[in-house]
Parts: sequence; C-alpha cells; structure tokens
Amino acid sequence: MIKFNKISKSFKSDFWGKSNLILNDVSFEIESGNIIGFLGANGAGKTTTLKILMDFIKQDSGEVVFSKELGDKRTEINRSIGYLPEHPYFYPDLSGREFLKFLIELNDIKFESVLREVDEWTKKLKIDHALNRKIRSYSKGMLQRIGFVAAIIHKPKILILDEPLSGVDPVGRSILKQAMRDLNKEGTTIFFSSHIVADLEEVCNRVIILEKGVVIYSGDKVELLEKHSSGNYKVTYRQEDGLSITKTVLSKDKDQLILNLVNNSASIESLILETPSLEDVVYNLKK
Ligand SMILES: Nc1ncnc2c1ncn2[C@@H]1O[C@H](COP(=O)(O)OP(=O)(O)OP(=O)(O)O)[C@@H](O)[C@H]1O
Ligand SMILES: [Mg+2]
Repeated sequence: MIKFNKISKSFKSDFWGKSNLILNDVSFEIESGNIIGFLGANGAGKTTTLKILMDFIKQDSGEVVFSKELGDKRTEINRSIGYLPEHPYFYPDLSGREFLKFLIELNDIKFESVLREVDEWTKKLKIDHALNRKIRSYSKGMLQRIGFVAAIIHKPKILILDEPLSGVDPVGRSILKQAMRDLNKEGTTIFFSSHIVADLEEVCNRVIILEKGVVIYSGDKVELLEKHSSGNYKVTYRQEDGLSITKTVLSKDKDQLILNLVNNSASIESLILETPSLEDVVYNLKK
C-alpha cells in the first residue's frame, strides 16, 4: 500500500549550525488491512516520517511509493488518506458540529450527505452530546475524539494518526482503541505512532520500531514477541479431583509432561508459549 524506500532526512538546528541526520535510510512497508504501530522514543523521528508520508516536508533521499489502490496523482492519494496530526488545531469558536462540517467540506463532500456516518461515529466515540458546544470547552480527550471523527468521515483507505492516545485518559484511550479496531474491521488500514507501548501492543498486529532515526524492527507483532520468548510453556491442566494447576516447563520437557498428564487422566486446559510484553522486548532491543 505504502512503501518507504531508504528515506533519509537531515535538519539544521539553525542557519549556521551543522545538520543532524534525523532519519537514516528508513525503509518499511505499510501493507493494507493491518493496524500498524509506529513506536519510538521522543525525538526518534516518528513525526518527521509521517510528515514526509503526507508530503508536508521533503526527504533528502529515498522515495515513498504509493500503490495504485490509493490513486495515481497526489490529490487522489491525499483523498485516500485520513490524517490526525500530533498537534491538531481546532478553531475554538466553532461548535463540534461546525468544525466537522468545515473539515468534511474541505474534502469536497457535502456535510448533509454524511450525516448518518457523523451520527454513527460521534456516538461511537461518545462525543455526540457535545457537538453543539464550542470547541474551546472541550477537554484534550474530547479534542482527540472529534479529530479522529474528522479524519475518517471521508472514508479513507488508510488512516494515519500521530500519537492519538497521548494525554488522553484511560476511558478515552479505550474508546479510541475500540474505534480503531472497528474501523480496521471495516477494511481501513491504520498506521499510528505512539510511545505508550502497552496501548500499541493491545491494538496493533504489526510493529515498526524506530530508534534514533533507524528502523530496528518492522514486522509482525506476535513474531517479535515469540522471537524474544524464553521458550518456556505454561501448561494449565485439571486433575481428576477437579483441581486446576498451572506449571511452567522448558520447551524440551513439554511433550513428556503432557504425555504424563494424559496418562494420569488429567485434562489439558491450555498450553501457551510464554511471551514477554512488547515493553520488555523494546527495552531489550535498545540495550
Ligand atoms: N523542522 C525541524 N527543524 C529542526 N529539527 C527538527 C525539525 N523537526 C524535527 N526536528 C528534530 O528531529 C528529531 C525528530 O523529531 P520528531 O518530531 O520526528 O520526533 P518524534 O519521534 O515524533 O518525537 P515525539 O515522540 O516527541 O513526538 C528531533 O530531534 C527534532 O528536534
Ligand atoms: Mg512526534
């Protein structure tokens, strides 16, 4: 869908200052249908990457390749993308409804033709009750949620979110994460940056990890977690007397344990490969 091919970008701190390499040969692929988490510490280069993707700034070298499904010309491609920036600007004197109308009509879509979608998504994001209120009275979580609605009403094929969950309380984060899952089920690809690893782990199926402008992992989330697994298995079984027991065994011992249990009429309830949390993996990748 979108391919980053050896993208590099430098910034100068000031006119006379030396230039700093912010993105160093960044390559990754956004395949359609996924929820991709873009992970990296403050200053890693996430926003810079997203700005290059959006064509707001130009890379020094490398190319961003968009597949045909997103369109041929940049204007078509832009229409296929929904984008919520890291620091969106909300006109404080507009009501939520006026703000949505303004942004939707910027996409050449008549507000009246999408009232059903506006109703559905503002309800889902629990912001419908505030649509007639001025945006200046909205909390940070409410702003992120109305920004999210504004980014999806034109039915983009891919939604790009820069830190959508940052500064939002747990209830708001949970509502946004559910909306991301629902949207993905309807076929929208989602690419979002975050440094809240637990949230990202919960919602995405693929991960790209950026460390000081270098991609240190790009691929399947479960594969990454399994690769860093201790290799131990957690076996839960129920004994004949009804007691449920969980044991951790080394990979090489698991078959024998299961054989013994079955021979002793125990019933196996689950066999799970122990995987670390994404947070542990990211921390170890950096060491
Ligand atoms: N226009 C600019 N001019 C000079 N330096 C810049 C510019 N934009 C970004 N940088 C620098 O590039 C680096 C990466 O910034 P970027 O905003 O892409 O990081 P980030 O991963 O999004 O961080 P955060 O998690 O804090 O949002 C930082 O050191 C930043 O100071
Ligand atoms: Mg950023």
